[in-house]
Amino acid sequence: MADLILGQILTFSGDPFAQGLSAARHLSHGAVLVEAGKVLALGEADVLRAAHPAAKVTDYGRHLISAGFIDAHVHYPQTAIIASWGKRLIDWLNSYTFPEEMRFADAAYAREVAARYCELTLAQGTTSFCTYATIHPESVEAIFGAAQARGQRIWAGKTCMDRNAPDGLRDTAQSAYDDSKRLLQTWHGIDRLSYVITPRFSPTSTPEQLSAMGALWAENPGCLMQTHLSEQTDEIAWVKSLFPTARDYLDTYESHGLLGKGGLYGHAIWLEEREKARLAEVDASLIHCPTSNTFIGSGLFDMAGLKAAGHRVGLATDTGGGSSFSMLRTMAAAYELGQLRGRALHPAELWWLATAGSARALHADHQIGTLAPGMEADLVVIDLASTPAIEQATRRADDIWQAIFPTIMMGDDRAIHATWVNGRPSR
Ligand code: GUN
Ligand code: ZN
Repeated sequence: MADLILGQILTFSGDPFAQGLSAARHLSHGAVLVEAGKVLALGEADVLRAAHPAAKVTDYGRHLISAGFIDAHVHYPQTAIIASWGKRLIDWLNSYTFPEEMRFADAAYAREVAARYCELTLAQGTTSFCTYATIHPESVEAIFGAAQARGQRIWAGKTCMDRNAPDGLRDTAQSAYDDSKRLLQTWHGIDRLSYVITPRFSPTSTPEQLSAMGALWAENPGCLMQTHLSEQTDEIAWVKSLFPTARDYLDTYESHGLLGKGGLYGHAIWLEEREKARLAEVDASLIHCPTSNTFIGSGLFDMAGLKAAGHRVGLATDTGGGSSFSMLRTMAAAYELGQLRGRALHPAELWWLATAGSARALHADHQIGTLAPGMEADLVVIDLASTPAIEQATRRADDIWQAIFPTIMMGDDRAIHATWVNGRPSR
């Protein structure tokens, strides 16, 4: 039976960075018709009600219905070490991240954290995510199993590292290739699961391992590839010392077959001109991780400049370098960083980044990220007056943008009234 879901609706037909507010579609009394995991129709509530009298109605009143949030770069194994105090990137990895990731050799622990991560993010309205696992194949199996059980569309990959990581947290070029290939062949395209080839970053891979990952990507061009790029200045200096002949950080990927469309480059803060030009030329995706960039002290991503230059940009929490599981909090941080760079991002741009923009960065904008006939039915239902502070700020709003901005800036999981995954309410 079809579901007819009523409420205010916000979705996008284009990119508001390029097209302004004409790219947004808002219906104050709208409806989404959903059946068998897909959106069948979107329109005025009265019209769809009359046309589909047999549909089961769920009326969310004045709540806002949007495509579910899409977190384009996370490390689910870092769930338990989120909000760890006082370090910058390399020390943070060594002090907090690597010891925690070591624990994922235990498949039972991996399954426990994977389930916890999925529940925490669904409570935040995040219906899809693209995650790093650890070097352990079991950690990939765990997150695919957890997402599959919940019907979620996700991307995950075995994090490959064969140097500059502790004993017990290193693979080899060959084992990384073999394990990644086996996981890819087992999981890629099953239900809503996709394998993403995942060399962690140049400092933790030998040139041989980067080449092996490049070869695997060339053999599987339909897969995405994710890594980190130019997050902190001392990281960049380290990369230059490890790869003395490379033209720049990006070249350490490019020269090993790891630059292309379908490449996802997390952070991308301190880019040189050649790097920006090449990333734009190949139409690679840059993933902005604003709460992480402030929390670990990385720097100010140039959203306005990179969007104006036509880069494909997604938005992400970067759990647990990021300090929140919430894409609302992540939008707020993107706004604040934009202000520090002199460009106030519009609420439409922020919401687009967290939904359609991340979908586009993940090359899944034909499946998720917007509400339109044929799209997969992942929805978040937002209470725009979820706390007294937000309620009083929205009371006099006279358009949808004024009405949602206090929730963007001050909202958390209390604003998430419901989350639908694959056409079914998950909570
Ligand atoms: N660079 C390499 N690994 C990581 C990671 O786990 N988190 C962040 N923020 N940056 C990284
Ligand atoms: Zn990361």
